[in-house]
Amino acid sequence: MASKKNSLPRVIAVTSGKGGVGKTNVVGNMAVALSRMGKRVVIIDADVGLANIDIIFNLRPEYNIRHIINSQKTLNQVMVTSDHGIKILPGGSGFDELTQLNEGEKLNLLSEFESLCDQADIIFVDTGAGISSNVLYFNSACDECIVIATREPTSITDAYAMMKILSGEYGTKYFKLIVNMVDSAAQAKRVYASLSAALDKYLNNVVLEYTGHIPFDRQLQTAVQKRGLVMDNFPDSMAAKAIEDIALNLGNTPARTNSNGSLTFFMNKVFQAVN
Ligand SMILES: Nc1ncnc2c1ncn2[C@@H]1O[C@H](COP(=O)(O)OP(=O)(O)OP(=O)(O)O)[C@@H](O)[C@H]1O
Ligand SMILES: [Mg+2]
Repeated sequence: MASKKNSLPRVIAVTSGKGGVGKTNVVGNMAVALSRMGKRVVIIDADVGLANIDIIFNLRPEYNIRHIINSQKTLNQVMVTSDHGIKILPGGSGFDELTQLNEGEKLNLLSEFESLCDQADIIFVDTGAGISSNVLYFNSACDECIVIATREPTSITDAYAMMKILSGEYGTKYFKLIVNMVDSAAQAKRVYASLSAALDKYLNNVVLEYTGHIPFDRQLQTAVQKRGLVMDNFPDSMAAKAIEDIALNLGNTPARTNSNGSLTFFMNKVFQAVN
């Protein structure tokens, strides 16, 4: 079991631009891999459209962040815990309403979020697809930003558009890239090469770090159909092994952050951004 540590949790956004490229599966399976390494992991489901991290954990949350905002429930009452010990905070429609919070509601939410600092080593924020302002705010408020792309041209273009806006308008300069659903490492490297060439050519001082690739794997799809994670259902599958390697690497490398690494900072930044 992981012991309580004094350091602040790493807050990592997982984003893509294009939808359906594997954000939620990467977050869920990396969370499992990291929790097996002894890390305490919390997942914030910030996808206001199709929140679905709970589905692949086969959980049915009763409440969401809206109940915390209304002071009906505490953060710990709203979070659901998986068999692995991973805590999930369902966003529901609550995240959409952050724009309309009064000062009291904001303070309440902030103090609830502060309690997460003692409960987590890593916090993943599963953002929705697209470049709506909500998605951008969440990404820019996190310490680290992992971008998922596939080799589809639309996915590459959308990943580039996401990084362009985040770097140009929000000052995010470091990104990590995971290339999902590829047939080979060479294919993934080509996606990385074309994205970094575009970044070098058109954007200033933006760093894109290659973090790894995940093969296209039908076993991952079978796991999803069973409301499950490939890591649990097919631990020896190619996708599970690849995600495990990426998570190991992530867990063992110090964060190269975009912010000062505090969760309160994260929430404050979200509030500032939406005002
Ligand atoms: N490595 C993979 N191999 C095969 N299929 C995959 C892989 N990764 C994801 N998929 C397929 O893509 C689907 C979408 O994945 P997921 O829900 O994780 O994407 P997402 O980016 O979170 O989508 P959204 O933008 O809707 O939130 C999965 O249900 C699965 O069928
Ligand atoms: Mg998703």
